[in-house]
Amino acid sequence: FPMQMPELAKCSVLMRERSRVEETIHAMQRAGAGSLQVISDFDMTLTRFAHNGKRVPTTHNILDNRLLINEDCTRKVNLLNTYYPIEIDASRSAEEKLPLMVEWWTKVHELLIEQKIRRDMLAHAVKESSAMLRDGYKVFFECLAEHQVPLLIFSAGVGDVLEEVIRQNHVFHPNIHIISNYMDFDQTGVLQAFKGQLIHTFNKREGALSHAAGLRELQGRPNVVLMGDSLGDLTMADGVSEPQNVLTIGFLNDQVEERKESYINSFDVVLVKDETLDVPNCLLVALLLKTNQQPLETMQCISNFL
Ligand code: TMP
Ligand code: MG
Repeated sequence: FPMQMPELAKCSVLMRERSRVEETIHAMQRAGAGSLQVISDFDMTLTRFAHNGKRVPTTHNILDNRLLINEDCTRKVNLLNTYYPIEIDASRSAEEKLPLMVEWWTKVHELLIEQKIRRDMLAHAVKESSAMLRDGYKVFFECLAEHQVPLLIFSAGVGDVLEEVIRQNHVFHPNIHIISNYMDFDQTGVLQAFKGQLIHTFNKREGALSHAAGLRELQGRPNVVLMGDSLGDLTMADGVSEPQNVLTIGFLNDQVEERKESYINSFDVVLVKDETLDVPNCLLVALLLKTNQQPLETMQCISNFL
């Protein structure tokens, strides 16, 4: 790739059909910021997968703190981590995984409810955790907020924890909408249940149809940038009525060789072991700041992050 959109030529950037990506970006540029919405997963998409060789905690993992749960609960929740290899198993279909994911989430939530978690301890637990948004998160969040482009964060994690992570990183702006599993506290501030329909990795379509479709701020924005790290995340835009241009970006963090082919076939752009938001940021610069930038330039910017 020559001199213009370096992020897209990076060897960690894979595209099944580069010309389609270029055309989509170009169409989105022409339509402008007013037609755009961004829909993103949270855990391991907006947050890092690993840092210095250590896994970064998911919102559920952040709850593993003695301020909130006891040792016995930690042990029981950890025993359930055997469900994670199932979640990312390339040899099983989403249909096969679905009931197992319901089982995982249900068991974990039951264990958490037994712990009588206090709402006023959540912020402390997030502070003590090693939660980390991907490099470049400030540009990403600020750019969208400044151009009043809605950002729908669609997470099978824990909404209360997710909110605290973005608040503590000072990027919880008014353009953000969240669909997630929210805790239900009693009058004394003690966890008694989880609210609403359970969201797990493979039922985001239902959540999109029942929640996102009704969000007023997202209406009339037919162009979508969708970001996720799971194939289940691809259904997050199913609530968008009459979508025109949809560009999907997939973070392939784990089980790279096993899943590469399916990711390339499913996402428009696949980022392999990329802990940054450089590519999405490149795209935002093209869509929001340099709206007359040539498609080639955009692609070269994306390619540059080698
Ligand atoms: P996401 O939709 O924001 O990515 O959140 C879902 C992730 O949370 C999914 O990849 C699995 C992970 N998870 C845990 O780490 N621990 C748990 O106990 C559960 C139920 C899910
Ligand atoms: Mg995720």
